Amino acid sequence: MSKTVSFITENFGKYDPYSIDSYLSIGGFTAIKNALAMSSNDIIEIAKKAVVKGRGGAAYDTGRKWSQAASVPGDNKVVICNADEGEPCTFKDRNVIENDPFRLLEGMVIAGYTVGAQNGYIYLREEYRHLRSLIQNAIDQCMEKGYVGDNIMGSDFSFHIHLYSGAGAYVCGEGSTLIESIEGKSGRPRIKPPFIKECGLFLLPTLVNNVETLAIAAAVLQHGVDEYIKYGTPESPGTKIISLAGNVKNPGAYEIPFGLTLREIIYDIGGGIPDGHNLLLFQLGGASGKIGPASIIDTPYTYADLAKQGLVVGSGGVLVVDDRTRVIDFVKSIQDFFIHESCGKCTPCREGNRQIAKIIDRFVAGNPKPDDLNTAERFANIMSNCAFCGLGETAQSALLTAIKHFPQEFDLEEVAVK
Ligand SMILES: Cc1cc2nc3c(=O)[nH]c(=O)nc-3n(C[C@H](O)[C@H](O)[C@H](O)COP(=O)(O)O)c2cc1C
Ligand code: SF4
Repeated sequence: MSKTVSFITENFGKYDPYSIDSYLSIGGFTAIKNALAMSSNDIIEIAKKAVVKGRGGAAYDTGRKWSQAASVPGDNKVVICNADEGEPCTFKDRNVIENDPFRLLEGMVIAGYTVGAQNGYIYLREEYRHLRSLIQNAIDQCMEKGYVGDNIMGSDFSFHIHLYSGAGAYVCGEGSTLIESIEGKSGRPRIKPPFIKECGLFLLPTLVNNVETLAIAAAVLQHGVDEYIKYGTPESPGTKIISLAGNVKNPGAYEIPFGLTLREIIYDIGGGIPDGHNLLLFQLGGASGKIGPASIIDTPYTYADLAKQGLVVGSGGVLVVDDRTRVIDFVKSIQDFFIHESCGKCTPCREGNRQIAKIIDRFVAGNPKPDDLNTAERFANIMSNCAFCGLGETAQSALLTAIKHFPQEFDLEEVAVK
């Protein structure tokens, strides 16, 4: 029996994503219609009951975020759909856009109505430029039929949606950096406070939500929250789209109910490790996520169970690595990514990444210095605590968890003889 489910992804393959009529024929825009018949408070209560932790990676409760955004004073607010999806091993948002662009727009309109915004911006990563025409076509068709624009569905609510492309930097997925980028500035995070919920894009109160978060909101408003929370566990209700990649037979984006074990994800859904190899480790939540060894493969995929093992859901990436890869080589590839993507604004991240890379290189070559491990750990902890933004704070997650779970890979005597 298939272990995947189809709530957020229920429309995939069921309609032509270029045609609003096709979307209407499967019940499209019921979510907006339902939302417009409710008050902002009612929708916030539904969002709180759904317990949707933000799917961009930070896992902030969406109901709480919408409630805070709604209570910020102001009659000119902004909703941003974060479609930057720069996290390595994360491609679930692309799947939502490709297969169900109209539901994403519904989610934006609902978010705008709930928090009292007049304008929405989609920030699309540069590498997804091929999706621009698909999204713009969906916006234009929604404008023509009155689902976006002035007086949506005959109501007194007006909401316009604009499409922006990034220039291809991982840090631009961070909320304040994304805003700088839309404003035409270089991609570096803003100092906080002021927080973007009060002073964000063009200095207006701004709500930033991930593609999947907005798609869930629309699906929940269409079918009712009880239909959503019948999936999952009491602590982690609902479903999640994961991006399963690496050494599995069937990589891809899959919608799963929270509570499946990592074994079920990797072996039942992913088909297991190809070519008779063995599982070495997995990394959850993209390059900024932590790694776990094969011994904890029976951990359920829920926020609480993963946290007990020191793991995170993050963006929903599940990267599987088999025994053909050395742990230290894997860590080096992550380190190279962060050196490339550090924006250079703060010293802990700019210098820390480079210094740690030199140490990792010595481990890779089999000739570390006696104090290298201690120095790397010290620098990594300084970065986690002192970096200016989430990029630097999480850049060393892989290294620190590799040291924890695979100490032999960092043992000076063992490394020297390899
Ligand atoms: C370096 C960095 C990159 C990020 N990249 C993304 C991204 O590509 N997409 C995304 O939705 N959130 C990303 N985030 C998280 C956002 O800052 C923000 O928390 C999220 O978009 C909020 O939406 P949510 O509450 O629906 O998750 C990133 C954060 C950091 C620190
Ligand atoms: S942690 Fe500092 S250097 Fe690194 S991306 Fe953030 S602001 Fe830039």
